[in-house]
Amino acid sequence: MMDVKIYDKLARRYDLATKIVSFGIEELWRWMFIRKIKKFIKNGVMIDVASATGEMSKTGFNKIYFIEPSSEMVKIMVEKFKKDGFIEEKFEVQFQERPYIKLKKGKKEYIIIQNTAENFSIDEKADLITSFMGLRNFDNLQKGMENLTRHLKEGGYFAIVEMVKNDSLIAKLIMWYMNKIVPLIAGIMLGMKEEYKLLGKSIVSLNEENILKNLKGYKILEKQKLIFPVATLIIARKNG
Ligand SMILES: C[S@@+](CC[C@H](N)C(=O)[O-])C[C@H]1O[C@@H](n2cnc3c(N)ncnc32)[C@H](O)[C@@H]1O
Repeated sequence: MMDVKIYDKLARRYDLATKIVSFGIEELWRWMFIRKIKKFIKNGVMIDVASATGEMSKTGFNKIYFIEPSSEMVKIMVEKFKKDGFIEEKFEVQFQERPYIKLKKGKKEYIIIQNTAENFSIDEKADLITSFMGLRNFDNLQKGMENLTRHLKEGGYFAIVEMVKNDSLIAKLIMWYMNKIVPLIAGIMLGMKEEYKLLGKSIVSLNEENILKNLKGYKILEKQKLIFPVATLIIARKNG
């Protein structure tokens, strides 16, 4: 799994690097995404897939499962939550061979699972699944989305933000920036030019139809381009 190794290397500087190379736009997208989600659902059980450093905790949901295969990202996520006052709790039963980490703070419970979208399994169904810039990293989009759908309640929401292929001029410019300029910045800042070149390539690997094809059995409630036409936001309801 190419991506996971890169993300392992990136983990410690991920939040800062993302802010710099996206000029804060990613944060704006996340803010818009969460605002949109809250129009449909305010709280409940949430699964966040491809969590990286756990920034989607900003939804404020009380119970969140974070699914993230990079052990380094998991480490950073746990450190971040602990700094925020979360306390680690022991599971009474260690029911999987994969590390599950449970953190609590007041009414809030976070469970961090080091696994992929395709292979994780939990014994609870969610009211909301979120994937922020996550889908393109799946090894197998169909398998990942099927597994996620299995973990969603009937009537539950699947909320996605993803960068997608696009032919407009502005999209081409952004792709040029991501493929040529970002690796240069990453090379100077992080010594990770090659890694960012690969990440740039992964962005053009998905198009909107791919995503929609895997949302059969869902009703699409929202579909919009986020400011620049390279990112798409989709909110869908299962069997809705
Ligand atoms: C661009 S980051 C996602 C950003 C994050 N969702 C956020 O809110 O900031 C992509 C993440 O996908 C993870 N990933 C790679 N392969 C995956 C897979 N098969 N299933 C789930 N996540 C995967 C990577 O380790 C990485 O942390």
